[in-house]
Amino acid sequence: MRSIKSRRLHPKKIFRYCELGSGNGVTANILAASFPEAEFHAIDFMPVHIANARHLADEAELNNMHFHETSFQDADQLNLGKFDYIVLHGVYSWISEKNRLAVCEFIKDHLNTGGIVYNSYNSMPGWSHVLPFREAINSMSQSHNAHTVAKVQIARSYIQKLKGKKCCFYSLKPTNRATNQ
Ligand SMILES: C[S@@+](CC[C@H](N)C(=O)[O-])C[C@H]1O[C@@H](n2cnc3c(N)ncnc32)[C@H](O)[C@@H]1O
Repeated sequence: MRSIKSRRLHPKKIFRYCELGSGNGVTANILAASFPEAEFHAIDFMPVHIANARHLADEAELNNMHFHETSFQDADQLNLGKFDYIVLHGVYSWISEKNRLAVCEFIKDHLNTGGIVYNSYNSMPGWSHVLPFREAINSMSQSHNAHTVAKVQIARSYIQKLKGKKCCFYSLKPTNRATNQ
């Protein structure tokens, strides 16, 4: 007889999974490749992220992976049905109250009875190392009266300048993906 522990480690083969804010789709694609009999959906409103994610799925010849380029607010109109898993990674703590409500509405409408929501988000103290980086970008963007994209470019070139000057922040965290831009 299989133990409860082993059943938890090996979910049933046929299930429906949905990731909200899937980014470049790495997590969703790896899971789709790992569970070919399950059905995977991933939602993100950023066209370049969805394009990258689709490219990866095509390269891996996945036929159980479905990407949707839409916002959390509009995702309801897709009529995707019920899911056994609804997952968010690094999304919930970044978005507005209105978008959090949209996420909760989506979960209310689309989670199967007995389904699981896994919400992994960036919180203190684990993400404290990113704070100096965030503060630098914040203060740079406030000191310029420009469009958001231009502000990000200004902040990015400032960060790169710091990196070029071998700022100790980078030598302390050389492998940090979020700050190693
Ligand atoms: C910080 S990234 C995390 C990406 C991915 N989950 C990961 O762990 O690498 C947040 C993602 O959420 C998406 N996102 C943010 N707000 C959204 C919204 N209202 N509707 C759809 N996608 C959204 C962004 O486009 C972005 O790809």
